[in-house]
Amino acid sequence: MLSEPATASDCHITVRNAGPLSGEVVVPGAKNSVLKLMTASLMADGLYEITNVPSIVDVGIMADLLRAIGVDVSRPANDTVVIDNRGDLTPVAPWDLVEQMRASINVLGPLLARCGHVRLSMPGGDDFGSRPIDMHIAGLEKMGATFSFDDDVLEARATRLQGADITFEFPSVGATENLMTAAVLADGETTIENAAREPEIIDLCEFLVKMGAKIEGIGTSQLRITGVGPDDLRGCVHETVADRIQAATYIAACAVAGGSIDLLNAQPRHMEMVLARLTDMGLEFDRLPYGVRVTACERMRAIDVATLPYPGIATDYKPLIITMLAVAEGVGIVTENLYPGRFKYVDELQRLGAQIRTDGHHAVVRGVPRLRGATVHSHDIRAGAAMVVAGLAAEGTTTITGVHHIDRGYDDLVGRLRSIGADISRG
Ligand code: EPU
Repeated sequence: MLSEPATASDCHITVRNAGPLSGEVVVPGAKNSVLKLMTASLMADGLYEITNVPSIVDVGIMADLLRAIGVDVSRPANDTVVIDNRGDLTPVAPWDLVEQMRASINVLGPLLARCGHVRLSMPGGDDFGSRPIDMHIAGLEKMGATFSFDDDVLEARATRLQGADITFEFPSVGATENLMTAAVLADGETTIENAAREPEIIDLCEFLVKMGAKIEGIGTSQLRITGVGPDDLRGCVHETVADRIQAATYIAACAVAGGSIDLLNAQPRHMEMVLARLTDMGLEFDRLPYGVRVTACERMRAIDVATLPYPGIATDYKPLIITMLAVAEGVGIVTENLYPGRFKYVDELQRLGAQIRTDGHHAVVRGVPRLRGATVHSHDIRAGAAMVVAGLAAEGTTTITGVHHIDRGYDDLVGRLRSIGADISRG
């Protein structure tokens, strides 16, 4: 059985400023990769061993979802998931699991391609506004699938998907993943123009290629996939790519508390843009053979930032960047281009004394020398982590509630921060 962190809804985290941080943090595997690797295992019989798996709640939810569909999932070690797919699949994703996690939409492409039929509730996940799946549906329709909807339940059918030329209006991560996996088992060639290029997409491509998929253009915005038969695919062994958002969380912690930390296993090449902008704010980065060192010597300077699809600044970094700006010198403007509703945590930062004004999809942040401790609530994964970081920059005690959100995406955030000198505990 998988061992998950405790997720009591009344759990809270307490943080106090305790001066500069120092030491090493091992950056775990990426949530937004491992969940998709797990769903790709639905596409072919075989044994899959995925390593560098983070200990997070969402991995447990995905394991339960895969089990409900009919595969065996075990966790022989804390960072390893083994999936045994023997082909006896029921392509129905139960509502109680799907509603907990956006990534459950990623069973759509693999199951439709493999079973010719899927029944799925509309996925849940973080609440930062409407998150439609029209691009997933339009692309699969172009490949020959038909869809019907009954309340919030989607049903898709296709005898065999056909390769198609698909152009995205916007490089959606989830739509790229669903269409790419569907195309692997489709008849003929599929091209996806304006595909997402995130490191987690590349990781999924590499996993699929190990399974026997034929994909060209990996890491570019034009993917060309030549369909193969189910018997051409097999199980594989794969190490999950490092989590750039968790890495950035420890960078932000160091930025506001001061000090110097080594992020082992971090992949600076996947974080070029954010590291460049944080350098503009005054942080120093040194490449290490197995990661990156961040050093914060002085108070940061404000910058203006806009979120964009990769290789731009990811929206998932934004709550961390706003928190850093909240204690930087000067005024910074942050523009959110992906989720207009992703500013809920601003109210919480204001409780800590941050001076932030939002206007549409912009936030204007006027830095103050120090925040002040208070009780704040975490509304989603990244906002929760940002509250913890803010607590490191506050006088007095900061208490963060809604910790179950943080547990969905962070592998022992409290333990890792404590190991580098933070005064932080969980109760
Ligand atoms: N969009 C549409 N129609 C679609 C698909 C997307 O309008 O068919 C819109 C969305 O509503 C949103 C934007 O496009 O405004 C971005 O959506 P995208 O499909 O790129 O994102 P996603 O696959 O739903 C993943 C991550 C998010 C991350 C985004 C952007 C997972 C499980 N989630 O979501 O991660 O913010 O990409 O990088 O991979 C998180 O980890 O905390 C998180 C929210």
